[in-house]
Amino acid sequence: MAGRLDSRPTEDEVRLFAFQVWSYKQGEVVSLLIHLGSRLGLFAALADGGPMSAAELATRTGYHERWVLEWLRAMGAARLLDWHEDGRFELPAAGAAVLVDETESLFYAGGAFGPPLDPTLVDDVAEAFRTGLGFSFDRQGVAGIHRTEHMLGPWTRLALVPRILPALEGVVGKLEGGARVADVGCGAGLAVLAIAQHFPATEVHGFDISAHAVARARQLAGQQRAHNVVIHHAGAASLPKEPTFDLVLTLDCLHDMTRPTEAIAAIRRAIKDDGTWLIKDIRCAPEPRDNLSNPMAALMYGFSITSCMASALSEPGGAGLGTLGLHPQLLEELVRAAGFTRFSVHDFDEPANLYYEVRP
Ligand SMILES: C[S@@+](CC[C@H](N)C(=O)[O-])C[C@H]1O[C@@H](n2cnc3c(N)ncnc32)[C@H](O)[C@@H]1O
Repeated sequence: MAGRLDSRPTEDEVRLFAFQVWSYKQGEVVSLLIHLGSRLGLFAALADGGPMSAAELATRTGYHERWVLEWLRAMGAARLLDWHEDGRFELPAAGAAVLVDETESLFYAGGAFGPPLDPTLVDDVAEAFRTGLGFSFDRQGVAGIHRTEHMLGPWTRLALVPRILPALEGVVGKLEGGARVADVGCGAGLAVLAIAQHFPATEVHGFDISAHAVARARQLAGQQRAHNVVIHHAGAASLPKEPTFDLVLTLDCLHDMTRPTEAIAAIRRAIKDDGTWLIKDIRCAPEPRDNLSNPMAALMYGFSITSCMASALSEPGGAGLGTLGLHPQLLEELVRAAGFTRFSVHDFDEPANLYYEVRP
């Protein structure tokens, strides 16, 4: 009892702690307002027009002025817009890069903000604490694939082909000459389509277990009239058993898999002896506490519970690595155990990702 009394917090400590807790609540609400600003084109209109009053923004967008005014004040209070003394509001240039510029800015984040989680999904997350079993990506519905598509889009356009592939030994030459590529866990197929478009002599196969992902990837392939793309509704375990691919990609998905060891073994069988495997996975440390140096670690662990670890525990006996669970040392051990002999890390100075070039 004495111990408890000794540890009674001061009023300042309680105040500070309460502020920290309410700040997360504020973040949740501001997130929704960012989503509305993106969805309604309010940020885009501000980026186009310089400092604006609510009346000017309402006229430009066709929305009701009173609603626009309250949103502007909220965004000003969140310090995402400059709130000028004359009552006008301005989106700074950096704000336009992060919230509007989906085609030019690698830091575009607008796609990350959606409506709050479906309450029944939250029920499933709570239930997972009791049963231990999570749920696959499909449980997140079409919204899940939409979110990943928008988050990945800028990276695929601005980094994959111009920056990442040229760093891999001999890969671009092979793709130009005509090669076979597999993107395992391809999601909406943006990487598949980017490679297929830039390298028309190459044949690109996307594999995913999510019906929503496969439907979206096929739809986009149809829109792009991609002649050199095949999307398979199949998991890593269904890869061909013989050496078939010159390049295999696993982008932000190995840590989501229930059985990454089996997936790695399947990739080893399916890759040609002179092939390359590009892995993009989340930057993280072997000692979980060291992840505290990442200012976004809480977000990452939250994504893990609601998405990545949930997927990796969606079958009994799942590995359950989760968002920050596949660190470079573990990955190297797993790929070497499967018979790969070359493993190198590429650090492109991206805050969230590390890349690995792996060869038989
Ligand atoms: C975070 S998403 C990444 C999608 C895409 N690579 C990207 O970067 O946007 C993870 C994807 O892995 C897929 N996935 C999970 N386990 C899989 C498995 N065993 N085989 C193939 N795909 C799998 C999920 O369905 C989901 O579409």
